[in-house]
Amino acid sequence: MQKLSLWEKFSEPTEIQAIENALPRKKYSSVSKHLNTEILVIGAGLAGILTAYRLQEKGHRVIIVDAAEAGSGQTKNTTAKITLQHGFFYSDLISDIGETASRLYAEAHKNAIEEYARLVKDFSISCDFERESAYLYSTLSDEKILSEYEAARKLDIPCELTTETSLPFSIVSALRFPEQAQFHPLKFLRVLAAKLELYENSKVLDVTLNKNENGETQTSCAQIESSHGSFIIEAEKIIFACHFPFLNIPGYYFARMHQERSYVLALSGILDESGIYQNGPKAGTPFKGMYYCIDEDTFSFRRAGSYLLLGGGNHRTGSHPGESQYEMLKTAASQFFPQANAAFCWSAQDCMTGDLIPYIGPFSSDTPDWYVITGFKKWGMTSSMVAAGILPDLIEKRSNPYSAVFSPQRHNLSGELKAMLTEGYEASKGLLKSTADLLLSPYEKKRCRHLGCKLTYNQDEDSFDCPCHGSRFAKDGKVLDGPAQEDLRL
Ligand code: FES
Repeated sequence: MQKLSLWEKFSEPTEIQAIENALPRKKYSSVSKHLNTEILVIGAGLAGILTAYRLQEKGHRVIIVDAAEAGSGQTKNTTAKITLQHGFFYSDLISDIGETASRLYAEAHKNAIEEYARLVKDFSISCDFERESAYLYSTLSDEKILSEYEAARKLDIPCELTTETSLPFSIVSALRFPEQAQFHPLKFLRVLAAKLELYENSKVLDVTLNKNENGETQTSCAQIESSHGSFIIEAEKIIFACHFPFLNIPGYYFARMHQERSYVLALSGILDESGIYQNGPKAGTPFKGMYYCIDEDTFSFRRAGSYLLLGGGNHRTGSHPGESQYEMLKTAASQFFPQANAAFCWSAQDCMTGDLIPYIGPFSSDTPDWYVITGFKKWGMTSSMVAAGILPDLIEKRSNPYSAVFSPQRHNLSGELKAMLTEGYEASKGLLKSTADLLLSPYEKKRCRHLGCKLTYNQDEDSFDCPCHGSRFAKDGKVLDGPAQEDLRL
């Protein structure tokens, strides 16, 4: 089993030559001088690329920078489902924010699916974009499925109850959402990235406000570090699309979100190139649909060429359950698909807000020219497009029907309070943990470079992860995931 995202594997130049019209990965330069622009987007994942593209299309002058390579963060780690079906979600959402706002949430995501279809068609993007149904299913009970069905009907979301699926095991009930989609995220991203002024391997260390002698904000300055040295990009507006905002104040996102990890296997030996089962009880029939289990194990499935992707093993970052999550998935795969071979494996990290609605909008009430895109939970591909629809309107001071639902300044007290209490509790646990245990490795005795919580070992990724806000560090001390900005001192 190779530890590599399937999307990376099948977007390398040698592979891509065989794929008609696909765009090989282009190398972008790093920042090598001071720059200025109207809008600086920090983070060249799908959210940043789509938003930058949309703004440029509307005539804005945009620069986008990434600490590493475009799409090398969570975009390459996703299972790349484009859907408004977000697990067991709408029943709770209606209770939390009411029917009207919930309908807007669903409508924004429905529009996002159609916008993907339009872009793929308009630019003839060869990115394996396919319309598929998204299924929510249970092998135990139909109670939550029925609840979600009722919620979806209230919100006018097209869906139907069924027991017919492509899964090779029986289920109790499923809810099918038609006309959703799946794709290859890196092939898609590279086509839009090539249209932008993009700098890679250029890390933003800090962003400050530039004020005139009257104390009025004029521009923002992003301090950049690249292999060429230290530089400033001066911008009228800044968009933080870097997964987890790295500034603690303003915004206080570290106290409003946590991060979760999940794991994926790409299984071979089950389907042929056309997606037809080669063996098992469904032999000779096509695998259709994208699946998400509503039961405790939350397994997910989708096809990617001749591979079947099996996802699961969710846990809060820094709270690895001990047993290998890849091994757990391999065991599950051998039960579902006895002929399967685990060819590739990788993992993802997701930001979770208190009410599970992304933060898309003004970064804070004190910084009117800063914007943020974060908190996508497990559905970043679709919510990235939602962000690309909202932010241009906010920047151009036009009303947007969806902005209030996703506003980082929304007041969903139960969600915010829950997040504050949970994150506060987890942070105090992490901060108070002793490092005196003689059995701890030197790494585990290290404190996180964000706010000093005690790190825990993740055996699946051989990394040291922070339970407080989800920063992660490699064995050589390098930051793998923020909000921490600095490497561990070993
Ligand atoms: Fe905040 Fe570690 S991520 S203390």
